[in-house]
Amino acid sequence: MSDTESIYGKYEEILPAVMEYISGPIKRFNEDTIKETGHSVYEHLIYRIKSDDSMREKCRRKGLPETTESALKKMHDAIGIRIVTGFVDDIYSIIRFIKTLPSCRVIEEKDYIRNSKPNGYRSYHMILEFTVPFEDVSGDDPGHYYAEIQLRTIAMDSWASLEHELKYKHEIGNERMIVSELKRVADELASCDVSMQTIRNLIREN
Ligand code: GTP
Ligand code: MG
Repeated sequence: MSDTESIYGKYEEILPAVMEYISGPIKRFNEDTIKETGHSVYEHLIYRIKSDDSMREKCRRKGLPETTESALKKMHDAIGIRIVTGFVDDIYSIIRFIKTLPSCRVIEEKDYIRNSKPNGYRSYHMILEFTVPFEDVSGDDPGHYYAEIQLRTIAMDSWASLEHELKYKHEIGNERMIVSELKRVADELASCDVSMQTIRNLIREN
């Protein structure tokens, strides 16, 4: 194997198609909801394949060999999908929908909305295993691929982007103040998310 070969090996070419296959039903759920109700269930859905460098770094960090098998079977976030909604209830509607998909099995769920992280981080994370019409690294076809799905509101998303910037700063002045302000703002945004949801419910009751 050459040094320049992707950690994903020949599956590098298959991964984008797997990602399209996995996200297809969620996009259709949104389109169907718009047709039925006139409202979308999410604002945007984005996805990415974890870069070769990040995946290699994560394998090293976890003490795993830098192989395609580690990247696609031991790690569960080679495929990452992020769904950003206007309202908290939409997150739980999408989760209920995802759980009805016959090709999907829930491996892990973390509700950082009901149980926010100490720094104020909120999102709903799921690790899912999908059965897809593509070969996998074990040679199975239909194959099994993992994906990490993160669901959050627009408010949670803008907070997470800002907090993420902080992680990449090594030396930073006022760090304690910034950390505590971030926590305060996270809680204010969560309170606004609850109010926004309540107002929407009141409007839609009419
Ligand atoms: P690994 O899978 O080993 O990375 O750790 P984990 O399973 O404990 O991670 P977790 O499910 O908590 O988080 C996975 C992803 O969520 C991260 O790669 C980030 O994208 C996001 N995330 C989690 N916590 C935070 C946080 O405190 N701040 C921000 N900005 N993002 C976070
Ligand atoms: Mg994880």
